[in-house]
Amino acid sequence: MTVELSTSYMGLQLRNPIVASPSPLSHTLDGVRRLADGGVGAIVLFSLFEEQLREQALRNAELVDRSTESFAEALDYLPAIAREDTGPHAYLSLLERAAGAVEVPVIASLNAVTPDGWSGYARSMQDAGAAAIELNIYYLPGDPRISGPDVEQRHVEVLQHVKDAVGIPVAVKLSPYFSSIGELAQRLDRAGADALVLFNRFLQPDIDPELLAIVPSVNLSAPAEGRLPRTWIALLRGQVDASLAATTGVEVPADVARYLLAGADVVMTTSALLRHGPGYASTLLDGLSTWMARKGFHALEELRGMLAVSAEGDQAAFERAGYVSAMRAANAGAYVPW
Ligand SMILES: Cc1cc2nc3c(=O)[nH]c(=O)nc-3n(C[C@H](O)[C@H](O)[C@H](O)COP(=O)(O)O)c2cc1C
Repeated sequence: MTVELSTSYMGLQLRNPIVASPSPLSHTLDGVRRLADGGVGAIVLFSLFEEQLREQALRNAELVDRSTESFAEALDYLPAIAREDTGPHAYLSLLERAAGAVEVPVIASLNAVTPDGWSGYARSMQDAGAAAIELNIYYLPGDPRISGPDVEQRHVEVLQHVKDAVGIPVAVKLSPYFSSIGELAQRLDRAGADALVLFNRFLQPDIDPELLAIVPSVNLSAPAEGRLPRTWIALLRGQVDASLAATTGVEVPADVARYLLAGADVVMTTSALLRHGPGYASTLLDGLSTWMARKGFHALEELRGMLAVSAEGDQAAFERAGYVSAMRAANAGAYVPW
């Protein structure tokens, strides 16, 4: 039995639902080519960070200051300063070359936490050939005076600025740390988000007690971390017009199947590709096809969202029922931790 894996994601036609999420694997053109050759349906490039854009803006301001002394002299500075830049220019150059080099859509990723000052870069990404933009709003409100509604409003404004700047689809990659994910998802949906990517995974630094220092730490995910995004995808399916992308915790084909059954339009992966190499996408796809054939599914539409929570249902009861039955099973001795 042959199965059909093609699908659409925020209006983009993809050959299959596996998407390479941002990681160092897309830092070079060769890396992007290897991801495409590995079989993924689309590639999201690593993020261009707002901080890099600010550095660029500072350089530009420096240029303007110098130009007040002598405009002709400033024109001489421009190419030199632009050549020194390894941030936005290098990113846009890679994006342009990548979009021209591979058959699958290349999505640019912009890491932004403030609404102003950089949305012009979103337009540059569009001009460089990005099929879409993924807004990676990686924001940890460390200042305890910032209120929850302020944080949410910031997300909506960042999205609105980018939507105003471009005509290509815009996805928002969210963290799971909100009081009401559902309400925020619906606000972003109304503000024009073409996709919601659930969830970002914070690379939290840790404390080294020997060095008495804070040290950066990058850990790859474990499959169990997929349960939280999966729960929210199951809850949001049918509640928003935006496409739903799953990210976190895909290690084996069954994890892809789980996300699709919950209602994901596409399933993203980074940790598995870092662990096993870009060619691992074809292992995930082969496993997905085998599972679909075994279960009698011909196409993704037949299974996508099969285990989502009905939009008419009681969402709180779904979560509560899961909790209560898990606790009952644990108390009945099904789970013995010691
Ligand atoms: C080393 C590394 C670098 C990453 N860089 C980015 C990035 O630049 N932008 C982004 O949105 N996410 C980034 N991520 C997050 C991944 O795209 C992904 O959302 C996350 O790792 C969860 O998926 P996984 O469980 O398949 O790894 C990075 C993750 C890792 C491990």
